Amino acid sequence: MEGVKKVHYQAVIQDAWVTKPINSFVYVKNDTKSGVHIMSPSCTHLGCEIEPAPEAERGAVNGLFFRCPCHGAEFDIKGNAVKAVSQGLDTFEPIIIHNSVYIDILSPIKGSIVNRV
Ligand code: FES
Repeated sequence: MEGVKKVHYQAVIQDAWVTKPINSFVYVKNDTKSGVHIMSPSCTHLGCEIEPAPEAERGAVNGLFFRCPCHGAEFDIKGNAVKAVSQGLDTFEPIIIHNSVYIDILSPIKGSIVNRV
């Protein structure tokens, strides 16, 4: 996937007496200019998993990169909303320790809101 990698992770959430294992993934864009950008794969409409759009369609309209298979929301390569929803993908602050990157999955940063007229 051009410029973006799908990175799987596992975690265990302990909430009072409930222990919940999580197997999920994030999309990571890493470039020398803007650094590491980590995005949630959950669509901001109803939470379906977004997917990269077919390569031939990417960038054609408003920088399309990701598309939601459920109802067609579209996002650019940094997770900004470009069609059908007004809120971009949640992101995670990279936590770098000894050359490894971690995220706090319980503290996503809400995606920015786009006002369309
Ligand atoms: S859940 Fe993604 S567009 Fe509806």
